[in-house]
Amino acid sequence: MCGIIGYVGQNDAVDILLEGLKRLEYRGYDSAGIAVYDRARSRLKRVRAEGKIENLIKKVSTVEIPGYIGIGHTRWATHGAPTEKNAHPHKSGPFVLVHNGIVENYATVKQFLLERGEVFESETDTEVIVKLIDYFYRSGFSDDEAIRNALKRIKGTYAVVVFSENLSDSLFCCRMESPLVIGIGENETFVASDIPAILPYTRRVIYLEDGDFAVVRQRELRITDIEGSEQHRPVEFVDWNPVLAEKGGFRHFMQKEIFEQPRALSDTIKPYINFETYSISLPYASFLKEIWKQVHRVFMTACGTSYHAALVGRYMLEQLLEIPVEVDLASEFRYRNPVLDERTLVVAISQSGETADTKGAITLAIDKNVPTCSIVNVVGSSLSRMTDAVIYTHAGPEIGVASTKAFSTQLAALLLFALLGHEVLRPEDREVREELIDELLRLPSRVEEVLRGSNLLEIWARKISSALNALYLGRHVLFPIALEGALKLKEISYIHAEGYAAGEMKHGPIALIDDNLPVVCLVQYGSIGEKMHNNIEEVQARGGRVFIVADERLKERRRYVENVFWIPEIHELLTPLLFVLPLQLLAYHVAVERGTDVDQPRNLAKSVTVE
Ligand code: AGP
Repeated sequence: MCGIIGYVGQNDAVDILLEGLKRLEYRGYDSAGIAVYDRARSRLKRVRAEGKIENLIKKVSTVEIPGYIGIGHTRWATHGAPTEKNAHPHKSGPFVLVHNGIVENYATVKQFLLERGEVFESETDTEVIVKLIDYFYRSGFSDDEAIRNALKRIKGTYAVVVFSENLSDSLFCCRMESPLVIGIGENETFVASDIPAILPYTRRVIYLEDGDFAVVRQRELRITDIEGSEQHRPVEFVDWNPVLAEKGGFRHFMQKEIFEQPRALSDTIKPYINFETYSISLPYASFLKEIWKQVHRVFMTACGTSYHAALVGRYMLEQLLEIPVEVDLASEFRYRNPVLDERTLVVAISQSGETADTKGAITLAIDKNVPTCSIVNVVGSSLSRMTDAVIYTHAGPEIGVASTKAFSTQLAALLLFALLGHEVLRPEDREVREELIDELLRLPSRVEEVLRGSNLLEIWARKISSALNALYLGRHVLFPIALEGALKLKEISYIHAEGYAAGEMKHGPIALIDDNLPVVCLVQYGSIGEKMHNNIEEVQARGGRVFIVADERLKERRRYVENVFWIPEIHELLTPLLFVLPLQLLAYHVAVERGTDVDQPRNLAKSVTVE
């Protein structure tokens, strides 16, 4: 996610802004910028730089920017490559603005402004906000009214801080689903996306709530809603230490990212739904629709957790489109000379967009003149530039080596991708699509509901943390989730764990069963789930310890002995997104029990950029 810092007070704003941005680096970013107002000379100075904050500091050191009010930003690209011109703050007329979030209706707003002669300098969604503010200001509204009017027309998630040269003692702040906190200092006030940026200066904070509109000055603060009605927010005291603060109060980035999944899914799904026509609106839609008309086979390739996402994607694509889909590990795909022709679409899935084997696989596909598409989380990453089309997940930066929110947003993106194909190949089956779009929009709240059961997984973790091995069993669309659960456990707790298709038990793994082996069983509702009950009985009959994750509709049907985590009902193709959550939490709590380095497990890197 992006990072925001704002300051108004009696000290040098530049130093405070740059220091604040450094403290927000952990959020992940690919460019940065500040804007400071010199009241003595009535002059606003904006400096932006691509890459790390050191680049920004170097540029700032070459200019003198006195001033006691300003804003700063670290950008995690979601729309538009990580370049200087796309970096915040964005400017229009007397306004400069920084933004964290996603403007879902930016295309509509941009079109509205282009038709009225506006000229844009960036590729970002953010720029439409400051341009719209300036448009209202030039239409005769005051600064405050122009900002409020513009924000009323913005759909999406946002935390924005706006400065106007006309009101050089004020910062205008608004929050809608992206966090924004105000720090109350001695004769100075701070605004930031997160506590760490202001912790060195004050521990007295006000957490803005969705819809709050705050006007911040050196010694005063006024909070209203967007219409102007007063809102009262308590001043709270933050007793976190700086390290804890970086993780938003969570102990580890992985834990924070597990609980960010509702927001990550919402940010990934909503921008890709056309709410007027209730249809899918992906980037490269015309290219992808043409491809869906031509292809007769899809090949998906990836590594690790992203490979497991591809395995789930196969069920989605084959069920919805009845097109044959093959999935292969990128490290295998790239060397086995796969049979590809111009009617095969190769899809690469990657959080980082930099995994060497996945890039190698796509290079092979390109050499064979095969159409390619990628699903990646990092805007402007190598894979996003290598493939004919790209679908970005908007999970925000994933710091923990163990992939969690990136995985769930990959699954959401795969279903959206399949639904676009369904529009082309099954136009008459509108009902099927609408049901799945409904389910996708309800998904974030379902994920929140499942995550509320986290405490049970702490109990399970204490029961298995001393195990030497573990087995995860699943069938059909939950088989890849068994693989993913096993990978999570092994990579952060170092317990050897295997995921298996439960139907394979009699073909070997059943020999492993004894009372030392925890067996995690994933049980969906319906006929496939019924077969899982046989597997559970097989394991229990041989003294194995089962830990069951099951659809809550089975509560009446089955009396499980112990260790059951219930999953709320959801469309079959979305069950992987809910069933994976307790497995992420189980792995996390086992690793904490075992004292391993949860965020940086031994021998692992976040992105495997070499073979
Ligand atoms: C997953 O928890 C691991 N960190 C690892 O398997 C990862 O999924 C794999 O290296 C692929 O990375 P990518 O998605 O960035 O391509």
